[in-house]
Amino acid sequence: MIEPSYLDTTRSAYDAVATLYAELFRDSTDGHPLDRALVTAFAELVRAADGGPVADLGCGPGGVTARLAGLGLTAFGVDASPAMIELAREAYPQLRFDEGSMLALDIEDAALGGVLSWYSIIHTPPEELPVIFEEFARVLAPGGHLLLGFFTTDGDSPHPAEPFDHKVSLAYRLSIDHVADLARKAGLVELARLRREPGENERFLHGRLLARKPTEP
Ligand SMILES: C[S@@+](CC[C@H](N)C(=O)[O-])C[C@H]1O[C@@H](n2cnc3c(N)ncnc32)[C@H](O)[C@@H]1O
Repeated sequence: MIEPSYLDTTRSAYDAVATLYAELFRDSTDGHPLDRALVTAFAELVRAADGGPVADLGCGPGGVTARLAGLGLTAFGVDASPAMIELAREAYPQLRFDEGSMLALDIEDAALGGVLSWYSIIHTPPEELPVIFEEFARVLAPGGHLLLGFFTTDGDSPHPAEPFDHKVSLAYRLSIDHVADLARKAGLVELARLRREPGENERFLHGRLLARKPTEP
């Protein structure tokens, strides 16, 4: 696959800030009780379905991958940024971290019991997002779960995706309806969604979506 230029831009941007990012956001699911609870619930659902390993896609410095492993999952991380992967491997040598792109995952069809993508879909131009959701659906086993975290818009916004001045690389706030629609079009079934208010020192609303790949096609 020929790599799109925006991915190279995102990769270079995260390579440049990886050390600082890891200092500030080693585990970005740790800051809010609702986020910790959601990841714990995701892990419980994945364990109950017993569908195989879990990929933390766009894993950054690996703290979320380590949280998933701590919750009893066979978890590994994938990220486009070699600097992020290096930091993750240094911090969690017992876990597997691979360089790779969510646009074309080096993972077999139906291999995973779960996919978590925490703020890693936000840098993809909206028109390219269906490719990523097709990849999520492809690598999930029937009955596998998907948990997404992203910046979202308020319910009145007429735009499914709004660019904003993200500090690292161009990014988009995505309406939860739009993200749910992308998941549905890829063949996944929505189980839950959450919109939470910005916390202290946060600018935007946060969206969460939990979905599942049906067991019957
Ligand atoms: C905002 S950071 C989030 C990192 C981590 N998930 C967290 O919650 O702290 C976005 C990460 O997604 C990665 N990323 C963005 N687009 C990607 C893609 N198409 N494939 C793989 N990784 C990607 C970036 O390199 C970066 O490490």
